[in-house]
Amino acid sequence: MKTLATRRFPGDAWEELGDVEIGPLEPRDDVDVLIVANEPVDLDAFAALRLIANFSVGYDRIDVEGARARGVAVTNTPGVLDAAVADLTFGLILAARRRMVEGDALIRGGGWETLLGREVSGATLGIVGYGRIGRAVARRAEGFDMPVLYTRETPLDELLAQSDIVTLHTPLNAETTGLISRERLALLRDGATLVNTARGAVVDEDALVEELVSGRITAGLDVFVHEPHVPERLRGLPNVVLTPHIASATVETRGAMTRVVVDNVLAFRRGEALPNVV
Ligand code: 8YV
Repeated sequence: MKTLATRRFPGDAWEELGDVEIGPLEPRDDVDVLIVANEPVDLDAFAALRLIANFSVGYDRIDVEGARARGVAVTNTPGVLDAAVADLTFGLILAARRRMVEGDALIRGGGWETLLGREVSGATLGIVGYGRIGRAVARRAEGFDMPVLYTRETPLDELLAQSDIVTLHTPLNAETTGLISRERLALLRDGATLVNTARGAVVDEDALVEELVSGRITAGLDVFVHEPHVPERLRGLPNVVLTPHIASATVETRGAMTRVVVDNVLAFRRGEALPNVV
């Protein structure tokens, strides 16, 4: 039986897997382990499949129920990327509110001007989704003297209306698709900042683009509905900071994610309990 991966994932732990084929997800009947990064898997195309080891904590594009029904286990990489995602979240908050990217572009274009931004310290932070990553963001907010509102305690609409900065940390599922709807975006305060390092589809992307075009709010976006497509109208806007889904992308964190993937595959091969079944 073979292990097939969609690419070589970074870090030393990878070598412990031994022989791994790197290739596309095309029909195969000799593959029992697939290593993917939240890419959809056609379960009908892999007759012998027993494990999908996902290099990602989010598994929104993987048919976990379908896999379960066929006796295929799915594992993910929880716990090791919370700090990296929380760090980038704060980077986006700071960059968007203090207009850092705008200032960089201004100087590179030969200009110089005082860009008045919005305060981060002391601003009210609304955290939507209070799991491991949301809590890592909350710990950082303490250092910025920010009052924090959580969806666990504050109803979502109230949180949106009372926060200066709203940051999203929910998984993408049936309940969270389109959660931040057009109507809910309208609840944000004038000058508020929306940060999304979760999944693009948690927000009504068209409505968000319109809010940003109006200039009423600012945003920091690491995720988009149809990656790598980024809505054209966002590219020219000064009030949004855009990053290419890099919240977990540090040498250290990606290496740690590979470690988790490898531990799950090795446990499977030994017939042991899998550490991170979803
Ligand atoms: C990406 C992520 O999946 O873990 C997640 O949920 O979104 C990221 O870590 C990773 O970039 C895989 O390519």
